[in-house]
Amino acid sequence: MISPCKKADFVSMRAGKSFYLILMQFPFPGTPAASGRQGTRSTIQATPAMHSVVRALALCGNEAPIYQAGLGGVAGPDLAAAVSEAGGLGHLGCIRRSAADVRLWIRATRAKTDRPFGVNLVPPGGGPDGFEAQLQVVLDERPKVLSLFWGDFAQVIPRAKAAGIVTMVQIGSVAEARKAARDGADMVIAQGIESGGHVRGKVGLMALLPAVVEAIAPVPVLAAGGIADAAAVDAVLRMGAAGAWVGTRFVVSHESLAHDIYKQRLIEAGTDDTYHGHFYSYGWKLGTPYRAIRSRERWNPYHLIAGGARRSDDEKHARSFSVYGGQGVDKIREILSAREIVARLLQRGSGA
Ligand SMILES: Cc1cc2nc3c(=O)[nH]c(=O)nc-3n(C[C@H](O)[C@H](O)[C@H](O)COP(=O)(O)O)c2cc1C
Repeated sequence: MISPCKKADFVSMRAGKSFYLILMQFPFPGTPAASGRQGTRSTIQATPAMHSVVRALALCGNEAPIYQAGLGGVAGPDLAAAVSEAGGLGHLGCIRRSAADVRLWIRATRAKTDRPFGVNLVPPGGGPDGFEAQLQVVLDERPKVLSLFWGDFAQVIPRAKAAGIVTMVQIGSVAEARKAARDGADMVIAQGIESGGHVRGKVGLMALLPAVVEAIAPVPVLAAGGIADAAAVDAVLRMGAAGAWVGTRFVVSHESLAHDIYKQRLIEAGTDDTYHGHFYSYGWKLGTPYRAIRSRERWNPYHLIAGGARRSDDEKHARSFSVYGGQGVDKIREILSAREIVARLLQRGSGA
């Protein structure tokens, strides 16, 4: 929860069993209601840009500026609910799921948490029923947030907003950010080229983030790409981000649907081990760009294919594919619970 303070300029945030204190350098507008949860302190220092942090929290109803990325094949109800229970905003990665499955997942998440969460859709991965059928379920079920990636959303955003759903679009350039803002997006996710999975643009987050923040102010902008510890969260908040959109770090959580071998490969990978490729990624058009970690099995032709590896996939697949991962992998040393990851992302000096 965030509670306004009239004399000292600070926002206090409680998330699950954790209590986060963000020092503010200015007064701020209206904030969401208290939840009464308690716990430990974070050391993230605020900047004037924290106005947008507060605006994003007020829009989405989460308590800490940590937004779990829509991780296709990896983020199901267990992960989304655990992140939201920890005070962040969890997301269901619904790429390639049938419309019926999207509904089941939304309901399963609601059974696990009464906290807000988001649904992520990617039109080229509309699943057996297509994107429109997935979208219809979202409009019916009305999760708090819809995040969209890889498409033209001019016709989608007004429909989602009319259903009362906070709508955000992940972009990879200033031009795309301007378009998303013109189309009415409530929030934008600036995805740097450091990011794991499919990568929309060619610009590093350090240059992209401030340019997008300036171009579409006052629309809140989340930062994505290589964020895997509290130092990185702190850095993007200081650069004007409204929050951190974190993918690879949450793949290596107990709750993610990723195969254990995939998690282990991310733990073993270092900063130099990811590459930006555009040959073939499973289920996507030839030539779609992505960031992954190369398989050690270079003799195996499957290493030329990039993909995720789910618990339900076989061991061979998990070893031989190149697997999605962002440039923050070096910070990932162990599998943690989503709650612990959210807490560590907010506590500088704690490691990941
Ligand atoms: C395994 C994996 C799957 C992903 N799937 C999706 C997806 O379905 N939809 C989406 O919007 N982004 C997806 N992304 C990209 C994330 O939204 C985000 O941009 C990225 O994870 C941020 O970089 P990081 O992984 O270094 O934190 C995926 C990323 C990974 C690592």
